[in-house]
Amino acid sequence: MHTERLAYIETFGCQMNERDSEIMAQLLAQESYVRTTEISLADVVVVNTCSIRDKAEQKVYSLLGRVRMLKEDKPGLVVAVTGCVAQQEGRKIIDRMPFVDLVVGPQHIYELPDLVIQATHGHRVAVEQSKAFVIPPFLPAMESGSPYKRFVTIMQGCNNFCTYCVVPFTRGREISRSFGDIIAEVNHLAANGIKEVTLIGQNVNSYGLDQDPATRKTFPELLRAVAEIDGITRLRFTTSNPKDLSQALMDCFADLPKLCGHFHLPVQSGSNDVLKRMNRKYTIETYLEKVAGLRRARPDIALTTDIIVGFPGESEADFEATMQLVETVRYHAAFSFKYSDRPHAKSTEFPDKVDEEVKIDRLARLQKRLQEIVEERNREYEGRNLEIMVESSGPNRDGQWAGRAGSNHVVNFTGAGTFVPGQLVTVHIEHACSHSLRGHLVG
Ligand code: SAH
Ligand code: SF4
Ligand code: F3S
Repeated sequence: MHTERLAYIETFGCQMNERDSEIMAQLLAQESYVRTTEISLADVVVVNTCSIRDKAEQKVYSLLGRVRMLKEDKPGLVVAVTGCVAQQEGRKIIDRMPFVDLVVGPQHIYELPDLVIQATHGHRVAVEQSKAFVIPPFLPAMESGSPYKRFVTIMQGCNNFCTYCVVPFTRGREISRSFGDIIAEVNHLAANGIKEVTLIGQNVNSYGLDQDPATRKTFPELLRAVAEIDGITRLRFTTSNPKDLSQALMDCFADLPKLCGHFHLPVQSGSNDVLKRMNRKYTIETYLEKVAGLRRARPDIALTTDIIVGFPGESEADFEATMQLVETVRYHAAFSFKYSDRPHAKSTEFPDKVDEEVKIDRLARLQKRLQEIVEERNREYEGRNLEIMVESSGPNRDGQWAGRAGSNHVVNFTGAGTFVPGQLVTVHIEHACSHSLRGHLVG
């Protein structure tokens, strides 16, 4: 008798991994694996890993510890490690962890169903060597996943080699998807009721640069083409390195009403010395010019960022420059991290590592000030009308619906009527909370 087989997929890390997990779920569904949220029931466990910081990698190993015990009770369980740790460690995982059957790098996820069959026959395989790789055309399943918003991968990898970063080693060189495949995917999503798409890649500004110069499209051209697609009402993208932020991209914010007024522009440090040693290839002066350009193109644009504290050699003066920068830009939100050494990353070899206590102290000082600024920023929305995309399928106990502004703020609102997720409504903001806004429906 054919019994239902279950697959459990745990996702760590960024949107690239989130999208890859959806793709793997869909590929396994074609082999009649149903996705479960109960790991103990699974026949296949996929751990889709992230290696960006030491802490991220530690979380992976702690989950793998649990999986090892599960496998002791269920020897037929197929265990696959995918994502960035898989690429980074490769075969070593198979050698060190006898309970792991498959190690699958990010460029090999489309082979997962075949590999799972091999594993059920007792073969243990590691595939992480990237040959010449073309991202295959792939249309998302509509039965699972969000009914109104989706990620669309437009490219893989990164050529920038920021000295602290593992991504160029785990995701390889930049490879763009074909323009036609991306447009076909967004058309498919739109035809199935999707309203918002986020174009994702580690470095979207470089979209197309690896393709044939005669026919390639640039990232701004891609944005304009996607904005033309009927049914898509909102367009977002992430992430882009400030060094490649072009005037053509800024112009998109002036010209494309569908393009949401939010830009994640990771700065990493406010010190030019530190930026130089990070190999970021921009200075604070050019960064601030780009901030000004974006604000000219879209005066109410919300800017968010990533910041690393305690990069090797970061002095108190360097850190103060970062504190000064956040006063200058006044970010709408920010992610901040303590620097950690990563395998293959150049800065791992740099002298003058910053003491852990100093990093902890700087991170706390920075986060305190960032949060104050975020709350000041949130209060600027009080009294304004914002266009909100409804995200909840019903009101909560207090009668509030949840949605999101173009700026990416979560907005809770009251109002008579029934709304559907993905619908756009206008909300008058009454009150700013520390992490969200509150208001009522207009009209
Ligand atoms: N492609 C994105 C970055 C993705 S990694 C970009 O270039 O903007 C997300 C963030 O993790 C980075 O922006 C950086 O702030 C942080 N990060 C990366 N490597 C790190 C490390 N070794 N230690 C601490 N934080 C790190
Ligand atoms: Fe890492 Fe820099 Fe590439 Fe971003 S741009 S993924 S930080 S190497
Ligand atoms: Fe992590 Fe890899 Fe993304 S290291 S942040 S999962 S590209």
